Amino acid sequence: MKKSFFFALFISVGFQLVIGQNPINKSQHTQLRRLISKMTLKEKIGQMTQINIDVISKGEVFNLIEPHSLDSAKMHKILVEYGVGSILNAGGHAYSLEHWKEIVSTIQRFATTKTRMGIPVLYGIDAIHGANYLLNGTLFPHPLAQAATFNPGMVQKAARITAYETKACGITWNFSPVLDVGRQPLWSRMFETYGEDVLLARKMGSAVVRGYQSSDSANPGKMAACMKHFLGYSFPFTGKDRTSAYISDIQLREYFLPPFTDAIKNGAMSVMINSGDINGIPVHANKSILVDLLRKELKFDGVAVTDWEDIYKLVNVHHVAKDEREAVKMAINAGIDMSMVPNDLRFSDLLYELTLSGEVPQQRIDEAVYRILAMKLKLGMFENCMPFSKADFPEVASDSFISIAENIAEESITLLKNAKNILPLAKTKKLLITGPASNNNMYLNGAWSRTWQGTHPIWDKNSRKTIADVILQEFPESDWIQGCTIDSLTNNKDVFSEKLNHADMVLFCAGEWPSTEKPGDINELKLSTAQENLIKSIAAAGKPIVLLLFVNRPVIIREIEPLCDAIILAYHPSENGVRPIAKILSGQVNPSGKLPITYPKFANSLLTYDHRYADQLANDFSLNAFQPQWEFGAGLGYSKIKYSNLKISESKSGKKRVLSIAVDIENTGSMDAKESVLLFVSDITASIAPAVKRLRAFDKISVSAGAKKTVHFQLDLNELGFVNRNSKWIFEPGVFKVSISNLSSEININ
Ligand code: BGC
Repeated sequence: MKKSFFFALFISVGFQLVIGQNPINKSQHTQLRRLISKMTLKEKIGQMTQINIDVISKGEVFNLIEPHSLDSAKMHKILVEYGVGSILNAGGHAYSLEHWKEIVSTIQRFATTKTRMGIPVLYGIDAIHGANYLLNGTLFPHPLAQAATFNPGMVQKAARITAYETKACGITWNFSPVLDVGRQPLWSRMFETYGEDVLLARKMGSAVVRGYQSSDSANPGKMAACMKHFLGYSFPFTGKDRTSAYISDIQLREYFLPPFTDAIKNGAMSVMINSGDINGIPVHANKSILVDLLRKELKFDGVAVTDWEDIYKLVNVHHVAKDEREAVKMAINAGIDMSMVPNDLRFSDLLYELTLSGEVPQQRIDEAVYRILAMKLKLGMFENCMPFSKADFPEVASDSFISIAENIAEESITLLKNAKNILPLAKTKKLLITGPASNNNMYLNGAWSRTWQGTHPIWDKNSRKTIADVILQEFPESDWIQGCTIDSLTNNKDVFSEKLNHADMVLFCAGEWPSTEKPGDINELKLSTAQENLIKSIAAAGKPIVLLLFVNRPVIIREIEPLCDAIILAYHPSENGVRPIAKILSGQVNPSGKLPITYPKFANSLLTYDHRYADQLANDFSLNAFQPQWEFGAGLGYSKIKYSNLKISESKSGKKRVLSIAVDIENTGSMDAKESVLLFVSDITASIAPAVKRLRAFDKISVSAGAKKTVHFQLDLNELGFVNRNSKWIFEPGVFKVSISNLSSEININ
């Protein structure tokens, strides 16, 4: 009996020994098998259970007693009686390094000394733009901003630092990166994505996975990435978080799957599942996605964790399970390894009953536990699960980390309009700095900043300078007035006018209330009325306006755009974006961010750049319906970059057929520049309606003032393929148009 069970286990996991990117070797495999053979069913189910830290802390869930501390009796129940194998941080706020280390070491000591098996606990956290739950952790611009750099190497550095500071806390599992492609501008989590383009999300996502999971003597310990949210989470039809998505198999594979495929190839150790449903089937109960696609096709061998309470939601949100017992059975049998329960133990009790009754096969439990323990093993937790000493992480929150965050902000901030080259500004200019984000870094940090929604700046470092602080230093003739909050005017009209009269121009720092997930749902995609009205009244007074936008998503600014002389999309650059903004305004830095999304002009016309030709049909029967405010890839600098001499040729590289493309870029301005060179390809005719164009390669190039460079790309022809009507990736010969900037050329490929 025992033998046949092990044989079955070996068959199911033996396959993974060969194909995984973080393969378990033979002796580790034997170690895991031995460990699992000694575990009781209850202990195994404990490993599959993830509980919120609030549940083992003093106080109530979401209402912890401050200062926060762990409760031994609660820990005993969760860790010893139930053998829970994973804890996550959720309800609370950022802690100091010392406090994190105390929490993690207390939990690990409990788990390793007081439980029968002594298995360490996986602590999971959302460190999505730096160690954002560490009080003085280095915050980076949010992922959407990072995408605007078109510089995956730099983004990988940020991920490495995030891992460093997270590991310094003793935490080894990061619920990041978000690999959901941001193709629904209404969605509250747009800023967490790497934008609307598949290639960009693939490159950025993989760079982040590599950054998180790399380690060396200068960055000790290991941390696992968690790709999320598999699959199709970012495309809710209503635009509201966790509502239904309607995505065809072709679209799913063409647009939403590739970032996950690449991240798996780069060794991502875990995945979190989409809370929503696709075409009516909740992903947590969808075996075709969780097993056929994820395991069999993509050969993913890591841990699949649910999102928050998602098994219970199969009952009360999706209505596909009549009760929680049925929901647990559905999800575990569909392929879930670990449940982010997270506030009670009903999941564990129910799964215990279901396994005893045979409704969930024992083999499914062993498979899940194997994956979870394999992850702990790969992370080195069986050798040492205790936080390292502070001396091992001397660089936490160091100036060098902050300067990398600043570099990313400098390369992400996107100049969208600069009428009559109003920017850069002379230091003698009298600016009136105003707007909600002018003196409050909460709008720059966005959600997931020291608290979930990022709306409690008391946890932010109050020594950090705001935009007003820095601009008043850089431009000493300037002045500041709040002007308005998101919702209303804050100053007496006369006081405001008085200050306005003295100013040469206005620096309007507009914001969107920081939010994510359900709290970030909106009914209108627009900048708030109070801000719009104030901008209109400033324009009516005849003052030039430089508009800075700190927003969660591309809010419509159609009416105020003509009133502004310069417009800068700063995304969420974080508190480390303040100095870069000042440097861009004063011309010490030449802006180089480019839009990783299409910036819409009308809320009812939300096309991505890679729409189909039919989407361009206009009511005058022309093909001019695609009229965004700014196109994907838009972004100005202070130097004009001239493109010329586009050359394309087909050749062979080994067995592969490749397209070689070269283009010259020349910096005709007087400032050194960084230029993101974006290469688009249009498939002119295909067996299913092709996109008008697709980004197929990009590179970020430094080009000094007056210099000229040739940029080379090599494209495997297979990269020019698409998902056909049989859901297969194919390359179809034919005519292709290659375009870079204002140049284009066609090539016939047989
Ligand atoms: C979010 C996830 C996050 C998890 C844990 C959920 O509500 O959807 O992205 O990782 O909470 O905080």
